[in-house]
Amino acid sequence: MKKTSAPLLLFSGSSNKKLAAKIASYLGVSLGDLDLGRFPDGEIRVKIRSDVRGADVYIIQSTCTPVNDHLMELLIMADALRRASAKRITAVIPYFGYSRQDRKDEGRVPITAKLTANMLQAAGIERVVTLDLHAAQIQGFFDVPVDHLYASRVFTKYARQLELPELVVASPDVGGMKMAWGYTKRLDARLAVIEKRRISGEEVEVGFVIGDIKDKDVILVDDIISTGGSISKAASLLKEKGARKVYVMATHAVFCGRAVEKLRDAPIAEIIVTDTIPVTARIERLRVLSVAELLGEALHRIHTNKSVSTLFR
Ligand code: R5P
Repeated sequence: MKKTSAPLLLFSGSSNKKLAAKIASYLGVSLGDLDLGRFPDGEIRVKIRSDVRGADVYIIQSTCTPVNDHLMELLIMADALRRASAKRITAVIPYFGYSRQDRKDEGRVPITAKLTANMLQAAGIERVVTLDLHAAQIQGFFDVPVDHLYASRVFTKYARQLELPELVVASPDVGGMKMAWGYTKRLDARLAVIEKRRISGEEVEVGFVIGDIKDKDVILVDDIISTGGSISKAASLLKEKGARKVYVMATHAVFCGRAVEKLRDAPIAEIIVTDTIPVTARIERLRVLSVAELLGEALHRIHTNKSVSTLFR
């Protein structure tokens, strides 16, 4: 009998159907057919309608708000696919929720990033593709391969179009320094860092800026804009210290709490985010760049056993 390679099948959860459709279009395939619904008591009901036996299956699902529902939906979809004899199940998680609790930074707290990794693997997920994890080390929480992609490829392309001479790339906190440093290399820019202290989930305080930003254009880079506190305070501080224009490039537009208000009021020339999470906020100066091509190309390479890391050279 002739040996055939496993067909590639894409399925979308309900979190980001628009991005999933764009990825499917890049790959020239249709999204797999499934029925996603609820039982009368609210439990999630999944019925895979396409035949997946022996297929190389990719589930596209950001675990954004409502986080628990989207996470549970992903787990249940994986379980259904595994029981339907898919050959390999890859979770494509453009935004990986629960990733910020990635260590015990005080007593008696959980490590939800690890717990989530355990749950995904228990559901039968054999590979993960994700983008700008809160901390790269989260890859190690999995015992299956993780392809960790960077939106910097998309952002730097746009940053070059802005033609900003004497550019400084700034991190809003010490934790993001490595990410910002990566951008400086690609954009031939200088580095600056802001001293930030987190008071609570909603509140941050900024202190001083390390680096020369006076009369320079600054791009603030971050993985997440959640309540908008870090970015708005960092932008205000940079302007106060003499920066010319402040741009923001942040991968995941979580935009919760008073984020929209804070961002509207902040002295930011342009806020650039990606579509890892559907963006519905209306903010003038907000631009959404798509990561569909980047994810689509990564999936193509994984499916055809080609290098993914060369995407970033
Ligand atoms: C912090 O370590 C992250 O990189 C982000 O800066 C943070 O999660 C943003 O949160 P918020 O928008 O609520 O200040």
